[in-house]
Amino acid sequence: MSDELQNHDYEHKTSVRDHGSVRREKQEPKTGLEPITLSLVAACAAALMIGGGYLGAKSGGFDFASTTVNGYVPDPPDIEIAAAELSELDKYLAGGEAVYKATCNGCHQVTGGGQGQIPPLVDAEWVTEGTERFAQIILNGMTGPISVNGKSFGSQMMPPQKGSLNDKQIAQVMSFVRHKFGGVTDIVVTKEMVAAAREKHGAQANINTVASLAAADSYLPGEQPEWLNPEPAEDAAPAAAEPEN
Ligand code: HEC
Repeated sequence: MSDELQNHDYEHKTSVRDHGSVRREKQEPKTGLEPITLSLVAACAAALMIGGGYLGAKSGGFDFASTTVNGYVPDPPDIEIAAAELSELDKYLAGGEAVYKATCNGCHQVTGGGQGQIPPLVDAEWVTEGTERFAQIILNGMTGPISVNGKSFGSQMMPPQKGSLNDKQIAQVMSFVRHKFGGVTDIVVTKEMVAAAREKHGAQANINTVASLAAADSYLPGEQPEWLNPEPAEDAAPAAAEPEN
């Protein structure tokens, strides 16, 4: 009985000793899976920390404004040419395009082609002819039967824009529409011209019908702006240059 106990004890100790020594042994490295040295791990960690710290401190959150040097232009020659080509007229028309997109687009469409009972602006005489009635339409809106490019419209109303657009915005959008959709590219409508239209028609309470619009040959008074090439402006807009009221 005591033998048994002793033997048991002995065997137990052996097994513990054997396992302990096995555990102390490092595993045999397999080819290609040898552990890397601690110094390499430390070097990588140091590189990551230094690099991360540098980016964190100097990146400015990778924000465009803080990562771009003030005044930096990627390709200076191209940019200069583009800036030179963008004339005063282009800028003026771009302003008109912005007004068009914000105000007229939804109804008359980006193409100016209209939709359903909303008439087209492309090649429409209401756009290309008298600027007074065009300004009236924008200022006080439009309703009732109207013929545009030989087609009849009249079941929808255009709301007055005089409360939401100032003279310059109306002048620019008229110029843009005339240039883009009407092919009238040599003259513009100025804010002084629209101011004259507003003075004459701004107090009108009713929405326009064809009957309340000025004649097709009635142009708003005012000079063409100085920045516009004066040559075509002189022979193309004699009516616009003559104050008429
Ligand atoms: C809510 C829709 C709507 C908006 C916004 C609108 N229009 Fe109109 N517009 C119409 C409708 C509808 C008519 C036709 C009214 C009628 O039948 O008498 C019209 C008529 C016209 C006409 C005369 C007919 C033609 O097609 O030539 C012109 C010019 C015109 N609009 C220009 C503009 C311009 C420029 C703007 C932006 C400043 C504008 N409209 C904004 C709906 C709109």
